[in-house]
Amino acid sequence: HTELSVFELVGGEPTFRALVDHFYARVEQDDVLRPLFPEDLELGKYWQYLFLMQYWGGPTQYAAERGHPRLRMRHAPFQIDAEARNHWVEHMLAAIDEVGIQEPARSMMRDYFERGASFMINHIVPD
Ligand code: HEM
Repeated sequence: HTELSVFELVGGEPTFRALVDHFYARVEQDDVLRPLFPEDLELGKYWQYLFLMQYWGGPTQYAAERGHPRLRMRHAPFQIDAEARNHWVEHMLAAIDEVGIQEPARSMMRDYFERGASFMINHIVPD
């Protein structure tokens, strides 16, 4: 059949490259997120780019190079609380619009990132 993947719908590889570029440009300027990320952002950026293409139906190079995503486990070294999650989501949703991703892909991606980011919280700040 001829149903398009989100990967194809949004324009393929260049769109994901741009999405990750815009997202990381924002992370670099964010005083909450920047200290959470390693000093050198390039490798994480590369895995993020490969993972997102694969997740949305594009090339499976992430699996070939990195194996199973195990995202909760890979985020465990970083203390992610609700505030960090909210900053992360704000920047990813903004990047989606900066890159010009259109409906219906826009809403599908927003829903995924909002839910996925909550799942990555691994630190509760007491009242
Ligand atoms: C790394 C995806 C949410 C912080 C990564 C990687 C991926 C990813 C694919 C690289 C994994 C690898 O090493 O193979 C996602 C997705 C999310 C999400 C899909 C939500 C749907 C978050 C949130 C934070 C966060 C909420 C909060 C700050 C990080 C950090 C790294 C990372 C600090 C390590 C970067 C590095 O090693 O350079 N994430 N992430 N992520 N993520 Fe996330």
